[in-house]
Amino acid sequence: MFSCSQPVTGSGETALSQHNDTAVAKHIEAGNDYHSFSNPDEITVTHLDLALTADFEQKQLKGRATLDIVRQQAGADTLVLDTRDLNINSVTVNGQSVDYSLGASDANLGTPLSISLPANAKQVTVNYHTSPEASGVQWLTPAQTAGKQHPFLFTQAQAIHARSFIPLQDSPQVRITYDANIKTPANLLAVMSASNNPHTERDGDYSFSMPQPIPSYLIALAIGDLQFQAMGDRTGVYAEPALLKAAAAEFEDTESMLELTEEKYGPYRWDRYDLLILPPSFPFGGMENPRLSFITPTVIAGDKSLVSLIAHELAHSWSGNTVTNATWRDLWLNEGFTTYLTYRIMEMLYGPDRYNMEAVLGYQSLQSDIDALPEADQKLAIDLRGRNADEVFSDIPYEKGALMLREIEQKIGREAFDKFLLNYFEHFAFESITTDVFLTYLDKTLLKDYPEKLSRARIEQWIFQPGLPEGAPEPQSDAFSDIDEVRQRWLTDKRDANEIDTTLWTTHEWLYFLNNLPDSLPAQKLEELDNAFSLTQSQNNEIAHSWLMIAVKNEYKPAYDRLYKYLVNIGRNKLVKPLYRELAKTPQGKKLATKAFNEAKAGYHPLTIKANEGFIND
Ligand code: BES
Ligand code: ZN
Repeated sequence: MFSCSQPVTGSGETALSQHNDTAVAKHIEAGNDYHSFSNPDEITVTHLDLALTADFEQKQLKGRATLDIVRQQAGADTLVLDTRDLNINSVTVNGQSVDYSLGASDANLGTPLSISLPANAKQVTVNYHTSPEASGVQWLTPAQTAGKQHPFLFTQAQAIHARSFIPLQDSPQVRITYDANIKTPANLLAVMSASNNPHTERDGDYSFSMPQPIPSYLIALAIGDLQFQAMGDRTGVYAEPALLKAAAAEFEDTESMLELTEEKYGPYRWDRYDLLILPPSFPFGGMENPRLSFITPTVIAGDKSLVSLIAHELAHSWSGNTVTNATWRDLWLNEGFTTYLTYRIMEMLYGPDRYNMEAVLGYQSLQSDIDALPEADQKLAIDLRGRNADEVFSDIPYEKGALMLREIEQKIGREAFDKFLLNYFEHFAFESITTDVFLTYLDKTLLKDYPEKLSRARIEQWIFQPGLPEGAPEPQSDAFSDIDEVRQRWLTDKRDANEIDTTLWTTHEWLYFLNNLPDSLPAQKLEELDNAFSLTQSQNNEIAHSWLMIAVKNEYKPAYDRLYKYLVNIGRNKLVKPLYRELAKTPQGKKLATKAFNEAKAGYHPLTIKANEGFIND
């Protein structure tokens, strides 16, 4: 008998963790997804038809998801979907109710929804509504937006939060097309990771379609007082009116980025490429939702100094959205390739000096992660069984992945490596692949063609061993050598801060200067720097971040007002988490952290709350 219990959040053991080790090793290689309850090898969902109404009063999305299914095994009669805190009202096939049950909940994975299918069923409809606490949805009050007049909603599905707003097979190895109809208050605009007509009439009733098969983590929705401004033929930006002009100016090079990437790595396969600027509580820098990257407003610096973020999200249109990691263990296939492409795009557009500076900063950030992480987490292909996919977020899949590709490039030459990448995107287009599939492809291509330059053992060391292999590339920047000298002279009191000529410094020089100061500095030195360059007032959020880290480490009180405002106003986890972590090291710091966190909490995204609540006093 099937029962219809509501999900409860608790921490259950996953059945999968009971497998013995050898069986598990085989499963991992075969691309078994430890972050989904679904059973795509028996029954595969191929298409989603979504109809939802956004109820801002109740903070609920209400409606239905209709799934097209294909049986992979004759006689398979139970479809298992992923859900998390969803309220299921009924499940129907051809208009008739069918039996279903919600299984035991797991703190990381949510709750499996098992549906009994009549023979020959080709479509299943789940009628449901979301919980106001859905982990993948943030409902913002008007006060939390730039315009202060209208509410705002956005979703963030990666890695496994699509299940908190749609019942589906929430695994990146399942690709689906989708159609959606979204109903909103009439004065708001809805946009999705799908076809968005920039000139659509604003009437509260919006339809979308995504004709290319995508993994569930790329399904995305945002609703707000959004306006559109074109940046090029295929590119444009959606933002609240107050931010629209500044965003379009900051990101005006997006169309050129798109063209340059196509020239090198093959056609852009997704029609339009637009950006959506979110409120500052967006927990990431950016998210590569297809056709519509979601972008934090914290990178609108006024001088294009932080636009590598756009290059990064755009690059995912090739590495990630066209060729996709099959499981979260393989995340480096998405992020490492994308980080490599980002550097290359930045070089094509802004030249080698910028490329080298960004590569050095990335390398330094990788080094500090390697120093801080346990060995098991320094591997590209990381074992995530029994772990929360959100918690294992580091520079390893990004910068270590990119560095491996950079090494291959240096060994076989740029031209040959670019050709390889072009073929790779073509070969696996619209497929989800594991690390092992990638290795097999490498065997048949570069390892076969360049046996004297590349070896399987070396690649395996990069992917399966911690740290960096001996002789890994070390990015260098001439511009930064000068900064090292200047820093040294200032530190040894040979030069006053006032005498440092920073007129030609870009954000990158500042970051390099600040990030490489000693951890401990006398208050008088910090004051001197601050007086000379008004660092506490820096309007560049990355520079401000680096400066505030220094301020916290040295308890430099003149920066604490700014620190407090920074923590309360920004929800991007990469910017706030290191500050909370540092503050939590002293009782006084923890007090400030607690005060800021409690004030900010109502406006923070669920992911940012979860990532930082451990640093504060209860
Ligand atoms: N896809 C990621 C964000 C992500 C990764 C969300 C894993 C959830 C799980 C996005 O493309 C990304 O990498 N964002 C970075 C950008 C940065 C490296 C330029 C970010 O948000 O900081
Ligand atoms: Zn990324």
